[in-house]
Amino acid sequence: MKKMGNHSSISKKLYLGLALMLSLSLTSYAQEAATPMAAPAATAAPAATATPAAAPAATSGGDAAKGKDIFNANCAACHKLDAKATGPALRGVGAKYEKAWLYKWIHNSSDLIKSGDAAAVKVFEENNKIPMTAFPQLSEADIDNVIAYTMEPKAVAPAPVAGEKVPGTADANAGGISNSVILGALSLVMAILIVMLVLVNNVLRKVAAANGIHVASKEPRLSLWKAFARNQFLVLVSAIFLLLSGAYFVYGYLMQVGVDQNYSPVQPIHFSHRIHAGSNGINCNYCHSSARVSKHSGIPSLNVCMNCHKNISEVSDTTATADYSKDFYDKEIAKLYKAVGWDKDNQKYTGVTEPVKWVRIHNLQSFVYFNHSQHVTVAGVECQTCHGPVQTYEIQKQFAPLTMKWCIECHRKTEVKMEGNDYYKKIHEQLSKKYGVDKLTAAQMGGLECGKCHY
Ligand code: HEC
Ligand code: HEC
Ligand code: HEC
Ligand code: HEC
Ligand code: HEC
Ligand code: HEC
Repeated sequence: MKKMGNHSSISKKLYLGLALMLSLSLTSYAQEAATPMAAPAATAAPAATATPAAAPAATSGGDAAKGKDIFNANCAACHKLDAKATGPALRGVGAKYEKAWLYKWIHNSSDLIKSGDAAAVKVFEENNKIPMTAFPQLSEADIDNVIAYTMEPKAVAPAPVAGEKVPGTADANAGGISNSVILGALSLVMAILIVMLVLVNNVLRKVAAANGIHVASKEPRLSLWKAFARNQFLVLVSAIFLLLSGAYFVYGYLMQVGVDQNYSPVQPIHFSHRIHAGSNGINCNYCHSSARVSKHSGIPSLNVCMNCHKNISEVSDTTATADYSKDFYDKEIAKLYKAVGWDKDNQKYTGVTEPVKWVRIHNLQSFVYFNHSQHVTVAGVECQTCHGPVQTYEIQKQFAPLTMKWCIECHRKTEVKMEGNDYYKKIHEQLSKKYGVDKLTAAQMGGLECGKCHY
């Protein structure tokens, strides 16, 4: 019975410790969860403030909504409203020039430059003498609309920039402070507990001495190890614990070798297939062009990214989600710029590059032969059949188990595409006679032969 009492007090202490640890980890989790939540709130709040783009005079007589469409169709390739691209930022340009000048410039800027117009020559020279496309087809009303669009106040962007910085840094500090406060408080509590235990122990000893009970003082001198070895219960518990955790790591290690379904590593640049292949509908083949023609599908080089990203230095406000803010995405694009050495302010390459080491997700063992073009081009299998709804992945992952069973099952049930393939037609006739069937699966074509998949 005494032993039992002892154990329950041990387990009480254990529970207490666990509860403490839990509450600690919960509070720190709550801290982490709270910080990103705060960001969108801060973004939303001071939305009303606008850039002081003066001189509304030139705005009159234009439809900004129509202007936006015209701008996106004709001008967005070279201009942005608030940042320099190939051409200068256009917000507020209606206040910079007279209407008549703008008509002339947009209808044919090189004529205006040749005519020696001082303002025209000045912009031309300031922008490395890059000629601007002529737009004779745009009517003066069209141009009025575009100008009206450029004169619209910058609605949301400036406020969060100013607003975010302050609360952002404050938030970080707040998180840091409260975490260390919690830690400090906890260690204080621990210290107080220890002191109290020592005090209680002393009082009990005194009480015992006063009552004439002899307290054996040798026991505490027992070495920790011996005490531990004597307590069979503790030995058993720790042995089980060690075995279980050992098994866990060994299992994890073994699983590394084979199945990695849903493996989804953090990439050096957060690249969202949802945004690229989904929202923006970019074809898989634009970036993974070799999937159709070769064994490997490959990851695109950063030059491919720059085809678009020379002009896309930030995402639109609507791209941000609850989990990822616009600010987060913009910083990821900045990482791309850093890697390729692109100076977006001056629109040129600095020549200082650093490689991006994408973490490889899919990885068949070296003894397996898998060929993309065989499946994508010859068999006509969609990328999504094997890789899942990639266009919805915020973070890329391994969708299929990539086990032998997975390959074989699909070979058993997938029919070979015969249309437009004379070579197959002939084989089909022979083989379908052999098997006495109309349709032919990849398995019947030899897709189960070991040598086809194994070197
Ligand atoms: C092929 C790229 C290109 C396109 C397309 C283009 N621009 Fe330009 N734009 C430029 C460049 C470059 C300059 C700077 C002057 C120069 O080098 O010719 C410029 C200058 C301007 C300027 C003078 C800006 C300033 O701050 O002085 C205005 C206004 C302008 N563009 C309006 C437009 C409009 C409106 C459209 C669409 C209808 C348009 N641009 C389409 C390249 C382009
Ligand atoms: C704009 C370029 C781009 C487009 C379009 C694109 N991808 Fe990717 N893809 C990448 C980049 C960059 C990576 C490496 C980073 C990552 O894993 O997220 C990648 C990684 C992958 C991977 C994982 C590769 C590995 O390491 O095993 C798969 C699978 C994939 N893409 C499939 C697709 C499919 C299917 C589509 C069409 C629905 C598609 N991608 C469209 C750029 C692109
Ligand atoms: C065909 C054009 C195109 C190509 C090629 C392209 N992007 Fe993008 N990228 C976009 C567009 C469009 C957006 C979203 C803009 C928005 O939402 O306002 C974007 C957004 C991004 C973002 C921010 C959102 C996110 O995914 O985290 C990053 C980072 C990015 N691209 C990196 C890359 C990289 C790296 C490559 C090359 C592997 C690449 N892009 C190739 C068009 C492209
Ligand atoms: C029949 C199933 C299947 C189809 C269809 C398929 N893939 Fe794959 N994909 C795989 C397997 C299996 C791997 C792993 C290959 C390896 O490790 O050698 C892979 C790997 C990849 C990789 C990583 C780089 C590489 O080449 O190893 C990318 C990127 C990729 N696939 C993109 C695509 C795209 C884009 C398409 C559509 C055009 C596509 N895949 C169609 C099964 C498939
Ligand atoms: C989504 C279904 C599917 C999956 C999954 C799949 N395959 Fe296939 N595979 C096919 C089809 C269909 C063909 C027949 C292509 C043709 O017309 O030649 C084929 C053909 C092949 C061939 C050529 C066979 C021959 O007779 O020449 C090899 C090799 C192969 N697959 C390897 C693999 C490996 C390795 C895996 C797993 C990593 C795999 N496949 C997963 C559908 C699939
Ligand atoms: C359609 C393609 C395909 C065919 C056909 C195929 N295998 Fe495999 N095999 C695989 C893949 C993919 C793996 C890797 C599985 C993994 O990583 O779990 C594999 C793994 C193996 C392994 C290693 C076991 C392991 O789990 O690591 C052996 C042994 C093996 N195959 C034997 C065979 C034999 C024998 C045959 C003929 C009867 C055969 N395979 C036919 C695709 C194939």
